[in-house]
Formats: sequence, structure tokens, C-alpha cells
Amino acid sequence: MPTVSRTAILQIDFLVVGGGIGGLAVAYVLAAAGHRVRVIEKRGLDVPSGGHRVTPNLSKILRQWIGEEELTRISTRCVGTPWHDLVTGKYVGFLPWKPAVMAETGGEFLLMHHDDIIRVLYKLATEAGARVDLNTTVTAIHQGTNALPNPSATLSTGEVVTADILIGADGAKSKVRELVFDEEEEDAEPGGMTLYTGTVDGADMEKDPELRPLVQSEEWPIFMGAYRSLCGHPVRAKGAFSFHVYSHEGDVQEQGGEESWEEVVPTSSLKLDAFTPRLQRLIKFSPYLLRTRFYKHQQGVEEWMDETCRIVLLGDAAHPSFPGGTHCAGMAVEDAAVLGTLFSHLRTMDQVPSFFGAYQEMRQRRCSSVNLADLANAKLVAMPPGPQADARNENMMRTADDWDEGTLKAQFEDIAEIFGYDAGDAAEEWWVNWGRFSDDIRHDPLQQQQCMAFNFETSTVEIEAS
Ligand SMILES: Cc1cc2nc3c(=O)[nH]c(=O)nc-3n(C[C@H](O)[C@H](O)[C@H](O)COP(=O)(O)OP(=O)(O)OC[C@H]3O[C@@H](n4cnc5c(N)ncnc54)[C@H](O)[C@@H]3O)c2cc1C
Ligand SMILES: *[C@@H]1O[C@H](CO)[C@@H](O)[C@H](O)[C@H]1NC(C)=O
Ligand SMILES: *[C@@H]1O[C@H](CO)[C@@H](O)[C@H](O)[C@H]1NC(C)=O
Repeated sequence: MPTVSRTAILQIDFLVVGGGIGGLAVAYVLAAAGHRVRVIEKRGLDVPSGGHRVTPNLSKILRQWIGEEELTRISTRCVGTPWHDLVTGKYVGFLPWKPAVMAETGGEFLLMHHDDIIRVLYKLATEAGARVDLNTTVTAIHQGTNALPNPSATLSTGEVVTADILIGADGAKSKVRELVFDEEEEDAEPGGMTLYTGTVDGADMEKDPELRPLVQSEEWPIFMGAYRSLCGHPVRAKGAFSFHVYSHEGDVQEQGGEESWEEVVPTSSLKLDAFTPRLQRLIKFSPYLLRTRFYKHQQGVEEWMDETCRIVLLGDAAHPSFPGGTHCAGMAVEDAAVLGTLFSHLRTMDQVPSFFGAYQEMRQRRCSSVNLADLANAKLVAMPPGPQADARNENMMRTADDWDEGTLKAQFEDIAEIFGYDAGDAAEEWWVNWGRFSDDIRHDPLQQQQCMAFNFETSTVEIEAS
């Protein structure tokens, strides 16, 4: 695949702030294209995390990168989503994810653990030659100057690292974004949902005849309540079960927490009354919960690169996702695949502004519509009782009964188009149509964001210790 098979003619230094899924993925593709890459990650590899729904777009990329055998070892192929009532446990309907139809999209819908994805990407990145510094925090970021446009970063070790390009892959609360925006405070406010993430050991569930089927199945069940929902699925190839509880405004649970994946709260902090007894037992098996609050970023992130065209955002830093959404990891890895493909064509630093412009153009609209879809789906399964919720349930019951092969195929044609996308191919297409004609760049519709010789006060963002 084009994503990683080409070595760039001009090989440069990248500094990646943040070694989450996005940071490690971009480190891998850039290193594979011959660039020198260093990743700075403030935490270690073994930090609490939960489950991911891996959409065909992403599973296709992972399969290309690690191969079928390794992927099977750490994932479960999802065969369908049963919908249930959260309070009574009653079955409502079923959406099948037919393997044959998914295969047409070139990928599969997989269920995985965050930790396994991180480990795979860490191994890929380091084996491709990237250096990953764990337990090291970036404490300040500095823009370059007219004379020397290279950005640099100060690390918690005291070291100052300079690179040709700095990538901000530091998550939803990105500090690199503050520098790109040239603003102190960002316009973010609580978005009305707090997410609780837990993971239960498969061995604990084996003992309970009502919980055993959950971890042994290949399903991604969703339990629908009033202002709250729970979804869960097997992870680590059925070795454990991860779940998310989405608590929306109006729920008995108080909203709270930070826009972060670092807050660990006791399992007892989740009010259990509104869950069917089977789910209460499931939740209690989780040794702790992660609490993540959804924040709305009012203006969105307009510019993904700074005015020096040497600092660029990726993943949640560029487009903060709906926590616990279906597409968070996919979007970050697709960003990485696009940047990796573009920078495998690097011949001169003059190309960089057009690469960044093309990258943002290719990614921004997709990411924001996917984000809205995640939010809408979360609301759909957390409706209060009433005619709307009844209509939803009727619809879900019908799809379960009426989906013969033919209608299923028709339904999936749309999905196939959505899932059929290959981020690397999209970037390759841009290159063939526009990028390679560097002499004739005025025809490039994406070339509006030219980086002029810049003339500004260079800035530094300090990152307070947390
Ligand atoms: C620990 C963790 C667990 C998660 N668990 C789940 C889950 O169970 N389910 C789910 O759907 N999504 C989960 N997510 C979120 C999901 O992974 C992201 O939404 C998505 O993959 C996009 O990733 P990203 O790399 O853009 O951002 P993130 O995954 O947020 O990664 C950003 C990284 O940057 C690091 N970082 C931030 N600031 C600095 C700094 N100053 N110096 C050095 N490093 C810095 C952070 O430690 C983090 O590792 C989790 C994220 C994390 C970090
Ligand atoms: C990072 O810190 C954690 C927790 O202190 C520790 O367990 C781990 O070994 C450290 N990793 C590295 C590579 O230093
Ligand atoms: C996968 O790619 C398609 C095709 O362009 C895109 O429209 C879609 O948004 C992507 N799917 C997801 C879940 O992002």
C-alpha cells in the first residue's frame, strides 16, 4: 500500500508531542518514509484505558500494518449489535454486521482494547526507527523565527529539542493548539455528557451465567435508558469485557470530571439504580472507572497549522472527538496515514505548506461530520420515555425482522461507501492531481493557505505541571 512503502527524497526531523494512538501512528508512517522521528509521551505504556470499536476504515489500515495473524490475536470481529432496555434488560432489536458485506469494504468491524492498539503502534513505530520517550512531559513549545523557522520544545528532563516540524498529537486538551491558535484560553465548555469507562476480567464473568455470554459473544450490545446508556464488548480476543456508561444531562448522575483520560474514580461513584441487575453486577466487577467529560469546542479548530507552517495538529488535538464515540481512534489514524503518505513525497521544504493545506482540507470536513454522527447516535440511545423513544424502538424491532439478504445489501451499500475509504489512497490521489506539479502550484485549489515569509512575535506556550 502507498501508505508506507516509499522513502522520501528529503528526510527531515519530526518532533511529536503526545504518544497516544495518533502520535504513535504518525511516528510509524513518518519513520517508515525515512524521516527521523522522536515522540514525547508524558505517561507510560501501562495506564488505565478501555475498549475501542474499530471501524473498517481503521481495521483495514491495521491489517496492512500488522497482518491478519497479529490482528486476530488481539481483536474480536463484531457480528452485530443487539439493543436492550437499560432498566428491564428487555431485548429490543438487532443490527447485524454481516462479515461478507463488511469484507466488500475491505475491512472489518473489530472490537479491541486501547492498550493493545497502543502496544501495536508502539512496536511498529520503534521498529521503524522512531524514538519514543515515555514518562517525559513537554513543558514548553517555542515557535521558530524568520531566520530559523524550526520549532523546539522543552522537556521535563530539561532538554530542549529542535526539529524541522513539530506535530501536536497531545489530545483534546492540546497545549500545542493554544500556540497554533495564538490564544490563551480556548472557547470550550461542558457538552452535557460524562463518560465512565470500565473493564472486567473475563474470568470474573465466566462464573456468572448471565455475564458469561457477554464476554464470550462477538457482539457489541447497547443498553438504552433515560439520559444514560451503556455499551460494551469483548476486548483482548474475549479475555476481558470493556464498557462505557454515557451519562447525559438530566441523568440522576451528576455531571463532572475533566476532558481527560487520566481521572480514575471508584466504581461506587456510579449510581447503579437505573441499571438492570445483570449490568449492576457487571459494573461492580470493574476494579475502577475512568471518568471523562465531553467538552464542546465552540468555534472548532479552524487552522491546524501555525503561521510558520512548521507546527501542525493531529487527532483529538485538531478535532476533539466525542469521548467513547465509534470513530475516535479511526480519525486519528487516518490523519496519520494522510500525513505519512504526503511526507513520503518530500523533496524540498517548500512543499510543506501545501502538504499541510491538503492534509487539513482532506481531513477536516470528514472528522467534523463523523463527530456529529457519534453525538447523534449517543443521544438516540439515551432518550427519555415518550413517543420518540417508542418510535425508535419500533424501528429497531423492524430492522431485526425485515433484514433479508437483499435489503441488508442495499443498506450496506451506503455503509460500504462510507467505510470503503482509504486515507492513504486519498492522499496519493491529491499528490497525483496536484502535489507533484510544484511548478504550477497556482492551479492547486488547496494552495490558498500559503505560508508567507512570516513576520510576527514568536511565541512560546508554557505547560503547567499537572
Ligand atoms: C489513556 C487513554 C485511554 C483512552 N481510552 C479510551 C477508551 O477506552 N475508549 C475510547 O473510545 N477512547 C479512549 N481514549 C481516547 C482515544 O484514544 C482518542 O480519542 C483517540 O484515539 C485520538 O487519540 P489522540 O492520539 O489524538 O489523543 P489521545 O489519545 O488523547 O493522546 C494524547 C497523548 O498525548 C499525551 N500528552 C498530552 N500532553 C502532553 C505533554 N505536554 N507532553 C507529553 N505528552 C503529552 C497524553 O498523555 C496522551 O497519551 C483514551 C485515551 C487515552 C490517552
Ligand atoms: C514509566 O513510569 C511508570 C510508572 O512510574 C513505570 O512503571 C514505567 O516503568 C516507566 N517507564 C519507563 C520507560 O520509564
Ligand atoms: C471512511 O471513509 C469514507 C469514504 O470517504 C468516509 O466518507 C467515512 O467518513 C470514513 N468512515 C469513517 C467512519 O470515518
